Amino acid sequence: KSIVILISGRGSNMEALLAAVARGELPVRVAAVISNRPDARGLETAAAQGVPTAVVDHQAYAGREAFDAALAACIDGYAPDLVVLAGFMRILTEGFVRRYEGRLLNIHPSLLPAFPGLHTHRKALEMGVRIHGCTVHFVTPALDHGPVVVQAAVPVLDADDEATLAARVLQQEHLVYPLAVRWFAEGRLSLDGGRVRLAAER
Ligand code: GRF
Repeated sequence: KSIVILISGRGSNMEALLAAVARGELPVRVAAVISNRPDARGLETAAAQGVPTAVVDHQAYAGREAFDAALAACIDGYAPDLVVLAGFMRILTEGFVRRYEGRLLNIHPSLLPAFPGLHTHRKALEMGVRIHGCTVHFVTPALDHGPVVVQAAVPVLDADDEATLAARVLQQEHLVYPLAVRWFAEGRLSLDGGRVRLAAER
């Protein structure tokens, strides 16, 4: 199976996926890493590992529809089985999401449905939750509301600030995202009538 990874910045989740592939733990070919920002740090990391990269700069397009059409054209040029959003910070149109229904995954740094949107760690600290975490989900048109594939929880400690909490969650992101992509690559993970289906290991 082949995947395309979409990023906007640092790309540490992308790196975790590439590392899992390199270790032989993730049976996929990374066809390309695509960024909407030309200066995304993750682009260099990907290129240094010999992964094809592309930029579809959202600033070059008049609106979301035009950007999403260009992004879809770029993705489809690689004909991936799965599109993996990894710190991709653009809201996608319904048309785009439907085009990749059942083969579009996202990772969100909270235990959804808690704290959709931005600044999840700040919101978790403000709310005083004792458990926080991350969620891999299939993308549906409602932002950060798609069916959950896997979650990982971490404790919130009294001494935490946004940075320490984010780092603790990020460690878990780097574990669960390769896991979810592996399930998909093995043909065990699918979206069936809007619900997640995870078949047992064979
Ligand atoms: C991650 O916390 C991800 O869950 C969120 O944005 C961050 C991206 O980090 N959507 P990176 O670019 O993968 O390092």
